[in-house]
Amino acid sequence: MDDANTEGKEWEGDFDPLADPEEKRHLLSVLDSFRSYRRLAHFNGTHVRRQAFYSLPQEHWMMLSKPPFSVLDSLNQLDDLIDSNSELAEAIFKAGFKSFIAPTIDSDWVASIVPEKYARDEYQIYSIVMDHLNVQTSQNDMDKARSCISQFYRDWSVAGNIEREKCLGPVLQALDAEFSDRSQSNANLDRSDIKVLVPGAGLGRSVFDICQAGFSVEGNEISYHELMASSLVLNHTEKAEQFSIAPFALSCSNHLSRADQFQTFTIPDIHPGTALATDPGSKVPAHKRMSMSTGDFCVLYSSPDYKETFDAVATVFFIDTAPNVIRYIEAVRNCLKAGGIWVNLGPLLWHQSPKVSSHDHEEEHEHGHTHARDAGVGDPGSVELTNDEVLALVEHLGFSIEKQELCISETGYISNPRSMLQNIYRPVYWVARKR
Ligand SMILES: C[S@@+](CC[C@H](N)C(=O)[O-])C[C@H]1O[C@@H](n2cnc3c(N)ncnc32)[C@H](O)[C@@H]1O
Repeated sequence: MDDANTEGKEWEGDFDPLADPEEKRHLLSVLDSFRSYRRLAHFNGTHVRRQAFYSLPQEHWMMLSKPPFSVLDSLNQLDDLIDSNSELAEAIFKAGFKSFIAPTIDSDWVASIVPEKYARDEYQIYSIVMDHLNVQTSQNDMDKARSCISQFYRDWSVAGNIEREKCLGPVLQALDAEFSDRSQSNANLDRSDIKVLVPGAGLGRSVFDICQAGFSVEGNEISYHELMASSLVLNHTEKAEQFSIAPFALSCSNHLSRADQFQTFTIPDIHPGTALATDPGSKVPAHKRMSMSTGDFCVLYSSPDYKETFDAVATVFFIDTAPNVIRYIEAVRNCLKAGGIWVNLGPLLWHQSPKVSSHDHEEEHEHGHTHARDAGVGDPGSVELTNDEVLALVEHLGFSIEKQELCISETGYISNPRSMLQNIYRPVYWVARKR
């Protein structure tokens, strides 16, 4: 992945979020959600709980303040863990601001608003600019920032490998099998000749792992939260285990002990920069085999620019993000080469509630013709299909299902294995080939 410092550009695609005022507002809100993580987590996580605690009858809170309960000590400990999570949130904020906003603002103006004492403090400088731009994050964006921090546990901690392995393991096996098959008729084939697309790349771990396995890979992601966080870990971390996170600390239910609630994990388990620089034995260096694109998968990859570009598409916990899964299937069909494979693993937790037609579905007037704007996942309409129906649709739309396994494994998704509550998925796995 190109680093912002060297290329001035981290993401592929036709992408200028600041050109559109609505997009800019959203981008700033996402940045602010990471900047506000510390303040809001302290407020909601400990301040409000202390107030509720002191509202108990005095003899009760006094009893609970002493061992073996020491509830106030636990809240102090929670404050420390929030600070630790905040280091990561603020690193994402700084890297995101530097990539998206800093290049667009006038340095003289910044110098005029930042007091001299903060002139060397990156966080303060960016924060003062945000204050001057009157940025305010939304509740939805704050919730996403919080879950994004926890997501690092699944994607970039040693312990998260239990979940990762169950999801990415079968995908890597399918890619390896495809490479072996193709090598039979082409002895010179290198893994880097196989171009893989990963839609809904999240924090970029599967993109990184597929690249490490020697393939050429492009990740695609729609969410600024995920894009900024994946950019931090892939491009801007300095070493393995740079951050320590407590992904379960802010949720106070279903713990057997405080130790379970306050578990910490270091991230990243592997330093992507070092791993990519010490790439063994591929004819193409790792950083040239890996890229990220930003935007709505079904708009971007159904365009003629991407026609028959990839040898494989890997969707993990992704297809159920589609309001209209036909759009996703058509996009995969468009961007896959004939004979290419689509490897899918995931449940069908349809993310969208039913969306009816709306009058504000924009239409654009161009050269005297009226066109419906392609709003991708923003288009009206949605449908929730069963696995049988999805598979029938995939076949109907030009693929042959070569392999399928119902309930390939049981896995949580960012789940605390020590919790009294376990949400377990039994994802399906299939491999389809474009006819
Ligand atoms: C459930 S997460 C799965 C992330 C990752 N594949 C994994 O297995 O951990 C789904 C991801 O798809 C992204 N996403 C949803 N709709 C998308 C779209 N239309 N285009 C690109 N990404 C999308 C979400 O932002 C989210 O990061």
